[in-house]
Amino acid sequence: MPQQVRGVVAHSKGKPVSLETITIPDPGPGEALVQVQACGVCHTDLHYREGGINDEFPFLLGHEAAGIVESVGEGVTDVTAGDFVILNWRAVDGTCRACRRGEPWYCFSTHNATRKMTLASGQELSPALGIGAFAEKTLVHAGQCTKVNPAVAPEVAGLLGCGVMAGIGAAINTGGVGRGDSIAVIGCGGVGDAAIAGAKLAGASTIIAVDTDDRKLRWATEFGATHTINARENDVVEAVKALTGGNGANVVIDAVGRPETFTQAFYARDLAGTAVLVGVPTPEMTIDLPLIDVFGRGGAVKSSWYGDCLPSRDFPMLVDLHLQGRLPLEKFVTETVGLDDVEAAFAKMHSGEVLRSVVVM
Ligand SMILES: NC(=O)c1ccc[n+]([C@@H]2O[C@H](COP(=O)([O-])OP(=O)(O)OC[C@H]3O[C@@H](n4cnc5c(N)ncnc54)[C@H](O)[C@@H]3O)[C@@H](O)[C@H]2O)c1
Ligand SMILES: [Zn+2]
Ligand SMILES: [Zn+2]
Repeated sequence: MPQQVRGVVAHSKGKPVSLETITIPDPGPGEALVQVQACGVCHTDLHYREGGINDEFPFLLGHEAAGIVESVGEGVTDVTAGDFVILNWRAVDGTCRACRRGEPWYCFSTHNATRKMTLASGQELSPALGIGAFAEKTLVHAGQCTKVNPAVAPEVAGLLGCGVMAGIGAAINTGGVGRGDSIAVIGCGGVGDAAIAGAKLAGASTIIAVDTDDRKLRWATEFGATHTINARENDVVEAVKALTGGNGANVVIDAVGRPETFTQAFYARDLAGTAVLVGVPTPEMTIDLPLIDVFGRGGAVKSSWYGDCLPSRDFPMLVDLHLQGRLPLEKFVTETVGLDDVEAAFAKMHSGEVLRSVVVM
């Protein structure tokens, strides 16, 4: 039987979101219906509302979530009713050209539910990142459900479903940060602070946090930043070099995603260093770099899609590290709010008051 639940919908570009009754079909073959317990508010939700991702309005927002599987469709064996899961947006198909090359963390053909959630009018919803979890329940592909130790709090676990995983993975998987490395992170929101936490976990010895907001820089030190730079008051490239023997950092992560921050990341790395773009730019943005510098500085310029994570490998491992006290995921949760509060949470994200607001059902 289709079910009616409440969910947060963005109807059109730049307009405030509203809480709507949505209809969720029973799970089809390979699908799972999940009771959402908690869902973090990520900057990408705001990008969707601003029309910065695509124009497929109306969107059912929310995609950093944890919950309990309520029921599964035909043929689902990996998860079952009652399982505690983190939702992921990388349900690998196992057969695309990335998967066949043994690189499933790039999977080009990930699964989402094919049955559609709708508004009461019957209009189909586009779930953000194929998830749509600012809702009491959501329908996903069963491969989007990753079982983890249920001892972890849902509002903490859900964050691994997007921003925190993207940040940790940008450092560890994409940047390849290791013991003794120097790293700089530009933009210390949820994603940037997760990159800092990931660098600390990986053994980096110099961890430089860069932000325009002193409050964000203070929080960054709690995740392991050894030095901070206020980007409004300093030349970021020169300041990173000054903290790294005049050379630049081994890895610089742009967790903002703007031409100026990407250019800083490009030049703040040491020769043969790695620049990682994990912040998401908007379509009109361009950069202009001397090609001789691309050649002459060597190394690598990489993008990090979802931290190049493999949810089945990374989520249970990171939850275990958290439960052992080695990864302070709880520090990302500035506040828990209700489904009614998503628009207010966007405003707080904008003004820099929060690292993460988490909607708890
Ligand atoms: N690649 C991925 O898979 C992935 C996944 C999740 C989020 N993201 C993206 O990562 C970015 C960050 O997300 P978030 O949730 O942490 O956002 P956020 O808004 O919480 O954090 C952004 C931070 O950047 C700082 N900042 C802004 N302009 C700056 C500048 N010029 N110099 C230095 N710092 C500056 C802000 O003060 C803020 O602390 C977004 O673009 C988001 O869409 C990417
Ligand atoms: Zn694939
Ligand atoms: Zn996200």
